[in-house]
Amino acid sequence: MPVTCIVGLQWGDEAKGKIVDLLTEHFDIVVRYQGGSNAGHTVVTGGQKFKLSLVPSGIFRPEVQCVIANGVVINPATLVKEIDDLRQRGVTVGKNLLISDRAHVIFPWHIEEDRLLDQQCGGEAIGTTQRGIGPCYRDKVGRAHAIRLGDLYRPGLRERIEHIARIKQRILQSMDGQTTISLDPAEIFAEYTQYAERLEEFVGDTTTYLLDSVEAGKRLLFEGAQGALLDVDHGTFPYVTSSNSSGVGVSAGSGVPGRYVTKVLGIVKAYNTRVGGGPFPTEQANEIGQHIRDRGNEYGTVTRRPRRCGWFDAVAARYTTRLSGVDSLAVMLLDVLSELPELKICVAYELDGRRTINFPSQMDDLRRVTPIYETLPGWQEDICQVRRMADLPVNARRYLERISQLLGRPVEMVSVGPDREETIFV
Ligand code: IMP
Repeated sequence: MPVTCIVGLQWGDEAKGKIVDLLTEHFDIVVRYQGGSNAGHTVVTGGQKFKLSLVPSGIFRPEVQCVIANGVVINPATLVKEIDDLRQRGVTVGKNLLISDRAHVIFPWHIEEDRLLDQQCGGEAIGTTQRGIGPCYRDKVGRAHAIRLGDLYRPGLRERIEHIARIKQRILQSMDGQTTISLDPAEIFAEYTQYAERLEEFVGDTTTYLLDSVEAGKRLLFEGAQGALLDVDHGTFPYVTSSNSSGVGVSAGSGVPGRYVTKVLGIVKAYNTRVGGGPFPTEQANEIGQHIRDRGNEYGTVTRRPRRCGWFDAVAARYTTRLSGVDSLAVMLLDVLSELPELKICVAYELDGRRTINFPSQMDDLRRVTPIYETLPGWQEDICQVRRMADLPVNARRYLERISQLLGRPVEMVSVGPDREETIFV
């Protein structure tokens, strides 16, 4: 399909990077449109493992144009390092990467603010990745203290950094007096000028480029970061990220109207995970959760925090499937569930004595729900070598069929291991 969007349907970490990498050969352009270096996309290719946070996963195919669009927030230090690391390992990064001059820039004050805010939340912490993502998006919406990538190349940058740094220093100090950071505007200006020089070859107007491209019938792949349950508007607020990480984010984050999107591929893990705070009805803080964590190596790509693990929540995934306009599904990490004697899928919630399949909008309600499970028999075989649906153990096929039924969408791909080859195309 000419314009396809890849969206995670859970709380992130659905292994979207692998799917994007697999599909890129069918596309001309791969676009990141929200999030920033809170994302960690792992791509295993040619026996090498790469961890990307800002550069689109399409970068491993030099003929593909990669775009970091306006909706992404950019830490230039992280981006420069990522580009250098890729180049050092033989990956081409040049004209094949275009970065929006409208994207907002993360500064040291954002990172410090993120740290202080999470400490002071007065309740369950959001548990952010502390990459300054939320404070940068807030400054974008607030406008007065925002600096966009394009601003780094305009006159008046030094004065703007001085002005904002002065205000930010006062704000940070007033936040409990806990800050140890001392913002030196001259140093920040010098540092950011260097980043600007390093990034200049990539910076441009991605909105016009993408509009020209869709109008010319080019094939675009939108690579979502995080997952739809972390969407700032439609997710488990306030335990969310600060961008629209469901399918609705594509237009605002790239400038490409939704009417051009011809297909949405929803990515789910065969179970659920969450990193950071917030309700998680099907969480298994027991040996089952540990089995999943160990086999699935469920530790954060960015922060290495152990991820919270639990059964597949079809109520939540059905909600995000509808919300993101999903056409079909890719079920990831199915191999992780091998050897469990039985598997559970949450098919409904009980709330105040009533059964519902609707996902609550209020987090205190989500905290109170009791998951209603269906139990399915597990499979004991190692399935990593399986390449055809028909060769999967019958219980694995039944498990996939039930997920497909509950979400009302066909399963198009199944992943049974991290490598490109370890994939079943249905
Ligand atoms: P932030 O995006 O750093 O502000 O973090 C907000 C919430 O989103 C926290 O619970 C994070 O753990 C979660 N989060 C952010 N990015 C990711 C991701 O790429 N995968 C999984 N969780 C994420």
